[in-house]
Amino acid sequence: MTDAFQIVLAKRPAGDVTADCFRAETVALPALADGEVLVRSRGSVGEVVESKNPRYAKGDTVIGMLNWASHTLHDGKGLRKIDPAVAPLQAHLGVLGMPSFTAWYGIKHICKPKAGETAFVSAATGAVGQVAGQLARLAGARVVGCAGDDEKCQWAVREAGYDACFNHKTERDYGAVLDKLCPQGIDSDFENVGGKIFHAVFARLNNFGRLAFCGAISEYQDAEPIAGPSKMFTIVQRRLTIQGFIVSDHVALMGEFATEVGGLLKAGKLKSRETVIDGLAAAPQAFMGLLKGENFGKLVVKVA
Ligand SMILES: NC(=O)c1ccc[n+]([C@@H]2O[C@H](COP(=O)([O-])OP(=O)(O)OC[C@H]3O[C@@H](n4cnc5c(N)ncnc54)[C@H](OP(=O)(O)O)[C@@H]3O)[C@@H](O)[C@H]2O)c1
Repeated sequence: MTDAFQIVLAKRPAGDVTADCFRAETVALPALADGEVLVRSRGSVGEVVESKNPRYAKGDTVIGMLNWASHTLHDGKGLRKIDPAVAPLQAHLGVLGMPSFTAWYGIKHICKPKAGETAFVSAATGAVGQVAGQLARLAGARVVGCAGDDEKCQWAVREAGYDACFNHKTERDYGAVLDKLCPQGIDSDFENVGGKIFHAVFARLNNFGRLAFCGAISEYQDAEPIAGPSKMFTIVQRRLTIQGFIVSDHVALMGEFATEVGGLLKAGKLKSRETVIDGLAAAPQAFMGLLKGENFGKLVVKVA
C-alpha cells in the first residue's frame, strides 16, 4: 500500500482564490485495479512505479493531468510517455508541452498571421503567450503584446522578438496605447486575458480579423460576469472570425506540433522562460501567484 501526500480542493472560491480553498492531506491509496498505473511525481513530471496497464511499464516517464500529489492512481487515459533524453524534463510541460501546443494550434489554425499584418498576444510572456508571440513573428507578422511588468515587457521585445509590448498594470488607457503601437489596426488576436484588454483589442480588429479565444484569466476570479464588448455588430461589419478552442480536442495534431516546434527549438529559434517553485506544499501559493502574474513563463512546481 502507498501513502500519497496531496493537495485537494477544500472549497470552491467565491471571488479570489484564497489559501483556505486548499487542503493538504495524506491518504492511503488502494491496490491497483486492472488497467491502472501508479505514478510518482518526480521533479516536474511523473514516473510509473507500478503498472497494470499494458501501455505503460515500470520506469516510464510520463506527463498528463495528474493530481497535485506525491503519487497518483491513474487509468492511463491521456497520459503521454516522454523521452527524458530529448530535452530537460520540465520543457515537456512548457515549450514542448501543452502550453506550447496550445499556442501552436491557436496561431496556426485560427490566427494565421502573415507578413504585412499586426498580431496581438495578451499575457505575452506567459507559458502560452510567449510561444504564440514568437510563432506569429516567425510567420512574418508584426507582433505586439502586453504583460504585467516592465521586466517581462523588456524580455518580450529583446529576447522573444516582439515589436512592442506594453505593461497592462501601468498603462491606464488600453485604447490609446494600442492606437500608438498598432497604427494599422490588429489583424489577429491570440486572447489569453479577456476583460478590458480584450475589449480594447476587439475594437481595433481589422476587416477579416481573426481572434483565437484561448483564455480569459483576468475574469476567472470575478464573482459577477463582466459585460462583453458593446458593439457585437462589429463582427459582421468587419467579417471577423472568432473561435474559442480547447487544446485537448486536437491531440491528433500533437505529432505535427512536436516536429515543427521541436525543430524550431533545436534550431535556436524559440526562447522560453519558466518559474520553478520547490515542493508540493507550495503549490497553492504558486497557483494564487499565477493569477496575479507572479510567474514569468511556465510555472512549474518541482516535487522531490
Ligand atoms: N484553451 C486552452 O486549451 C488553454 C490551454 C492552456 C491555457 N489556456 C489559457 O491560456 C491563458 C494563459 O495560460 P498560461 O498557462 O500561459 O498562463 P501564464 O500566462 O503562464 O500565467 C498567467 C499569466 O496571466 C497574466 N494575468 C493574470 N491575471 C491577469 C489579469 N487580471 N490581467 C492580465 N493578465 C493577467 C499574468 O501575467 P502578466 O504578468 O503578464 O499579467 C500571469 O503570469 C490562460 O487564460 C489559460 O486559462 C487555455
